[in-house]
Amino acid sequence: MGLVKTNRILCGNALSHLDELPDDSVNLVYLDPPFFANRIFQKKNHEGNSPSFNDKWVGGISEYISLMHDVFEHSKRLLKDTGSIYVHCDWHASHYLKVELDKVFGYDNFRNEIVWKRHNSHNDTKQGARNMGRIHDVILFYSKGKSPTWNPIYQKYPEEYVKKAYKHLEEKTGRYYAHGDLGGPGGAAKGDPYYTFLGITRYWRYSEKKMNQLYKEGKIVQTKPGNMPMLKRYLDEMKGIQLQDIWDDIKPIQHTRKESTRYPTQKPIKLLERIISMSTNEKDIVLDAFCGSGTTLVAAHNLGRRWIGIDQNPEACDIAEKRIQERLESEPIPVKAVAKRN
Ligand SMILES: C[S@@+](CC[C@H](N)C(=O)[O-])C[C@H]1O[C@@H](n2cnc3c(N)ncnc32)[C@H](O)[C@@H]1O
Repeated sequence: MGLVKTNRILCGNALSHLDELPDDSVNLVYLDPPFFANRIFQKKNHEGNSPSFNDKWVGGISEYISLMHDVFEHSKRLLKDTGSIYVHCDWHASHYLKVELDKVFGYDNFRNEIVWKRHNSHNDTKQGARNMGRIHDVILFYSKGKSPTWNPIYQKYPEEYVKKAYKHLEEKTGRYYAHGDLGGPGGAAKGDPYYTFLGITRYWRYSEKKMNQLYKEGKIVQTKPGNMPMLKRYLDEMKGIQLQDIWDDIKPIQHTRKESTRYPTQKPIKLLERIISMSTNEKDIVLDAFCGSGTTLVAAHNLGRRWIGIDQNPEACDIAEKRIQERLESEPIPVKAVAKRN
């Protein structure tokens, strides 16, 4: 397992810096590379526009894919066995990148294709265009091995579902609950217990002793004699619904927002915090080889993770460094300064 210096921004080409990092040294790689949009992205600053990064490819898609393939190979080498990679892209090249990720990480290590809805509508349907609005980015999630670090996120149930499922009110406590099945799902074959409870004889989920205990605690209801007894599943004890692969609850950066650095294509901290918290634990190491304005680094720092950022654009490195310094200054105890190398 390689030891690696963390909490630093490496300014230069991704491939040359990745090459210097040791095997099995990081827990998560997040990549937000140029999307193969074939344009120059500009940073809209107060003095006017100045070029920020080039997403034009003289050698076309093969030049782009060749770079990304090499970055994926390095990422796999650098990741620990429990590590994961998330690759942020869009319609321009997501299909090519998925094939390369399958080649490098293996088809079986594909975990999710996350759809991040960035806009409600897009003006690419104007001027007689014969396509629908392209309003989402794609984030491809692969693991290095079979048992990646995984901290699932739960979200509030949709209101409609709560109204329908958790409609029973416990008068005494004011708690809402749903009816849970108490029948033994496996029957005799699975050795579920068979006995008579509240006048019903059948296979049950729990032992007779446990059922009597639950009944005594007021956690079982029978709406009328002869009806199937049901378990009270209290709404306030439920974790919620596990996060699904369509994310429409995180807004893109608006240049009027406090979080904005005015770096083009800057991603929201919330998006990165979500990814990092799902796929790493505290003190783990997060690597972003196209870190731009440093969003991943700030998000990792916020969550108590260590981080390494790489970007070939000195302007991006300056913004990321300033951003991290500001974040560190806001802490009650000063933290190690950022090392930046050109
Ligand atoms: C989409 S932006 C990243 C934005 C970033 N996620 C943020 O929130 O600010 C892509 C970045 O990749 C950098 N880049 C492009 N080619 C690179 C390369 N070969 N090596 C290192 N960085 C590169 C660009 O300078 C740009 O900052």
